[in-house]
Amino acid sequence: MALEAIVIACVFFFRLVITMAAVDRFSLLYREISRSCSFYIEALAIVGAWYTVRKCVSLALDTYSALRLHVIPRLSGNTDLVKKYGKWAVVTGSTDGIGKAYAEELAKRGVNIILVSRNKEKLEAVSRSISETYKVETDFIVADFSKGRELYPAIKEALKDREIGILVNNVGIFYDYTDYFTNLSEDMLWDLIHINIASATMMTHIVLPGMVKKKKGAIVNVSSAVCCHPTPMYTVYGATKSYLDYFSRALYYEYASKGIFVQSLMPSVTTTKLVAFNSVMSKRSFLFPTAEEYASHAVSTLGLSIRTTGYWRHAIQFTLSQFLPEWMWAWSALYLCRVMRKQALTAK
Ligand SMILES: NC(=O)c1ccc[n+]([C@@H]2O[C@H](COP(=O)([O-])OP(=O)(O)OC[C@H]3O[C@@H](n4cnc5c(N)ncnc54)[C@H](OP(=O)(O)O)[C@@H]3O)[C@@H](O)[C@H]2O)c1
Repeated sequence: MALEAIVIACVFFFRLVITMAAVDRFSLLYREISRSCSFYIEALAIVGAWYTVRKCVSLALDTYSALRLHVIPRLSGNTDLVKKYGKWAVVTGSTDGIGKAYAEELAKRGVNIILVSRNKEKLEAVSRSISETYKVETDFIVADFSKGRELYPAIKEALKDREIGILVNNVGIFYDYTDYFTNLSEDMLWDLIHINIASATMMTHIVLPGMVKKKKGAIVNVSSAVCCHPTPMYTVYGATKSYLDYFSRALYYEYASKGIFVQSLMPSVTTTKLVAFNSVMSKRSFLFPTAEEYASHAVSTLGLSIRTTGYWRHAIQFTLSQFLPEWMWAWSALYLCRVMRKQALTAK
């Protein structure tokens, strides 16, 4: 459209120059300009009308899909997840934060839960609490995902006789606080790769063949809203989340025809211990929900959207951030991250 406007402007300019050379009286020149302009104004009006119609249609479609995702499911009652996907769900990183809240939300809808996390005492407590509260079966697997490849044969063995309908690849870590890439230790870099990337890839590799055999199943990969803009001082974390986003979307197109639903879930700030380094982000507010609030909305988007923030308040933030040019996003993120780093270091 910009190209069309430039071409029209150039043609107009050349006609004007030619006309000015051909006439020597102002009234003749004025008449000639008016005649030329009316054609170009009409052409520009058509371009403008076309642009406006396109924008209106896309706004109407976006509004419809937001209502379909965030409002209608909450008004029309819960989907029967057991019937749709299967009896059991596996949730990684499920002893705290979003993973625990998501597991509880699935249990509330009658799904049996297998928790996978690193701390046995916490696993026992959460497992007991879920089975007593929601009257579903629960089990757990102790697994420290930072250990890497050695871990997965035992997980595969533990899951082999279970009919897994839903896999939630939630486990993820962030740094102690927002920081420069060169300040991150080698251990931290490997932990980010093993916990944020390898766990989701390997867990999916273990569980997906069983789902394909049954021709039904859902995989939720918990990415992050930061994956959509290059965010300084979130460098490696953001890159691991971009991996999950890409992985989920590509996997969906590969397996949709086999009855598998894959979702890239991209939360924005949620008040868990992951963001405890910052006093503002760790306090519940309009923009920053608790894990429980977030999970209750996120679960109702399961099966409806392959790529979503999972919560309408996060969707508003996400949509607004999409309007910012990349340099402006990066510039403001860098400023805020520096402030947060300074505060975290001072608090230390
Ligand atoms: N919170 C946010 O603002 C936010 C925003 C966007 C995306 N996310 C993503 O959401 C997911 C959940 O985050 P969260 O905020 O709920 O985090 P969280 O509160 O820190 O909880 C993380 C969970 O993962 C477990 N875990 C950590 N390291 C592990 C390891 N090496 N092996 C096994 N389990 C491990 C933790 O176990 P313990 O109980 O033993 O610590 C805990 O159960 C992450 O993928 C995160 O990147 C979060």
